[in-house]
Amino acid sequence: MDYFNYKQGQLYAEDVSVKAIANTYGTPCYIYSRATLERHWHAFNDAFGDQDHLICYSVKACSNIAILNLFARLGSGFDIVSVGELERVLAAGGDPSKVVFSGVGKREDEMRRALEVGIRCFNIESEGELDRLNNVAREMGKAAAISIRVNPDVDAQTHPYISTGLKENKFGIDIDVVEDVYLRAEGMPNIKVDGIDCHIGSQLTEVAPFLDALDRVLDLADRLKEKGVEIHHLDLGGGLGVRYKDETPPLPAEYMQKMMENTRLKDYQVLIEPGRAIAANSAILVSRVEYLKPGEEKSFAIIDAAMNDLIRPSLYQAWQNIIPVVEVAEDAATSCYDVVGPICETGDFLGKDRDLSLKQGDLVAIRSSGAYGFTMASNYNTRPRACEVLVDGDQVHQIRRRETIEELFAGETLLP
Ligand code: LLP
Repeated sequence: MDYFNYKQGQLYAEDVSVKAIANTYGTPCYIYSRATLERHWHAFNDAFGDQDHLICYSVKACSNIAILNLFARLGSGFDIVSVGELERVLAAGGDPSKVVFSGVGKREDEMRRALEVGIRCFNIESEGELDRLNNVAREMGKAAAISIRVNPDVDAQTHPYISTGLKENKFGIDIDVVEDVYLRAEGMPNIKVDGIDCHIGSQLTEVAPFLDALDRVLDLADRLKEKGVEIHHLDLGGGLGVRYKDETPPLPAEYMQKMMENTRLKDYQVLIEPGRAIAANSAILVSRVEYLKPGEEKSFAIIDAAMNDLIRPSLYQAWQNIIPVVEVAEDAATSCYDVVGPICETGDFLGKDRDLSLKQGDLVAIRSSGAYGFTMASNYNTRPRACEVLVDGDQVHQIRRRETIEELFAGETLLP
């Protein structure tokens, strides 16, 4: 559920007209709803009941510091994958002792900064990384808390680009060989084994793969215990899907309920790293129709947003709803459009075969754009990145201004 609804024929973000925002801040423009973000965060947090837990919001989904700050105020933890994301969390007032650091390629300088500010845990993805972390921690006279990301070989049944828990994926360490790595880690003077980590993919719409992975992780924890390795927390990753079109993913409460039916979970603190399920439906991307281009084979609606603003349709053939900002009469004539951007690529589309009633200058909203929307935006075709606006009731806050063209080549220099 979100807070983007029509009122008297106009699309509203909470209590503010989307058209008014577009007129003030220009297009393309990301509009977030604070109530939606907070509602989704609480849905996860409440789902745990009295189970010891920590929500580590996955920063990569949507990383504007105003939004991270909202979660920090709720007491959230954060899942990061780079020192850049760490600095964002700190700038947003996030508590470093609630930060977990994921990712297969952590550099030494990133480890150093994370140890300096005292993050909660490194999610280790390879033996090489473990050795490097032990060395960096030794140089700093510290002990680094770790969990090892295991690859449970579970098929998440999602798009191949966002499936991560199969043996063929680059992530984690094979669950069948990870015990020896844990035993090695246990013997390292500057490493403190704390947990087991697992993330099998994104946009999962069934609980079954999560339950499979959980079973395997709990079995591993048991086996480790027998060998004298104490596990205190289980990090179950993110991955819960959302409805873009007609998907029926479980609600956070249903998902956690099913997971907690496994009573072995009680022995551990549970961390989760949701990104999409919190952020996706918290934002729309608003864009204006530049041209309508009717054709024999295809008709195109050319809008001022493009794949550089929102790459999900181009990259994953993702379907996101495109709706008019000013509601049209139910019996209004429609045409079937490919909704495309101005970028010089055939793959530059936001939606294909959409029945819409449009005219030049109209505003459209691309729904469910809050996760992996702005964070995946680029400057391709030297296009400044869009502005981001957050609505809170009847208040509008610009949380990131539109980039200027000068900024785009400010770091470039001519040869002498
Ligand atoms: N934890 C780890 C270790 C991850 O790799 C990810 C996402 C998450 C948590 C958060 O997963 P979520 O709850 O958002 O599913 N750009 C793609 C999605 C890539 C997901 C990458 N990892 C998309 O737009 O669909």
